[in-house]
Amino acid sequence: MTFIVSTHSYRGGTGKSNISANLAALLALQGHRVGVIDVDIRSPGIHALFGIDPHTTHSTLNDFLWGRCNVEDTVLDVTAAVLPPGAPGIAGKVLLVPSSMRTGEIARILKEGYAVELLNQGIQSLCDKLSLDYLLIDTHPGVNEETLLSIAISDCLLLVLRPDQQDYQGTAVTLELARRLEVPQLLLVVNKALNAMDKVHLKEEIEAAYQTPVACVLPLSEDLIRLGSAGILVAVRPESPYVAALGEVVRLMQHPSR
Ligand SMILES: Nc1ncnc2c1ncn2[C@@H]1O[C@H](COP(=O)(O)OP(=O)(O)OP(=O)(O)O)[C@@H](O)[C@H]1O
Ligand SMILES: [Mg+2]
Repeated sequence: MTFIVSTHSYRGGTGKSNISANLAALLALQGHRVGVIDVDIRSPGIHALFGIDPHTTHSTLNDFLWGRCNVEDTVLDVTAAVLPPGAPGIAGKVLLVPSSMRTGEIARILKEGYAVELLNQGIQSLCDKLSLDYLLIDTHPGVNEETLLSIAISDCLLLVLRPDQQDYQGTAVTLELARRLEVPQLLLVVNKALNAMDKVHLKEEIEAAYQTPVACVLPLSEDLIRLGSAGILVAVRPESPYVAALGEVVRLMQHPSR
């Protein structure tokens, strides 16, 4: 059975894609088969962290949504990207379904939309055909059709927020939505906390305000800024405090078969 995890935030740039990619790495290093799907069809990005050329001719989620291929034809094995250079292979896998970076294809999605039910079917068949232990869904910020779908089908929703008034207000909206959709597990992930901030106090304050557990408070990370989405921190600097803090999310995710 696949445990589906969506990473979402009301506002953009909170750190969702880096969190999804690094979580995928941590889970694969534990030996799991992990799928990552970029449902940020309007502004895809996570492929960059796995070193995928945006001009690749490989099939994308868009091709599947337009009936040009099967969903499994869009899958790229990016396991090597989550390992330090030269490291031996691992039992786990990271399998990425990218979205198209072609201007015309993004424009077509914006103009014509797509069948959300087909996306749902694609996700379910991906879980089955690839025998995934986890599927991580990287979403577009804000509330739209694909984020509503991904929240509705998730076993666990990670809601990412920065210590910022706009994020606080937006998170309240998304949390209410997730509660109405009856997501089994809701976890808040606070990102980009300054080192000078008292993280224990921040966690307690946010948990009290939202009545929702905060899985971790991730530090503003110079390592991540230096990397600039050109790789996975777990592979490049596994000793980074960001990676250590993210490990807590893996620990808290309640996969029923573990
Ligand atoms: N903890 C952190 N410390 C420093 N920089 C970070 C941290 N987390 C993310 N970033 C940086 O913030 C930027 C946005 O990160 P990312 O793309 O992961 O966010 P996102 O929520 O997926 O954005 P979008 O909403 O556009 O999809 C990137 O430049 C990334 O390197
Ligand atoms: Mg993103």
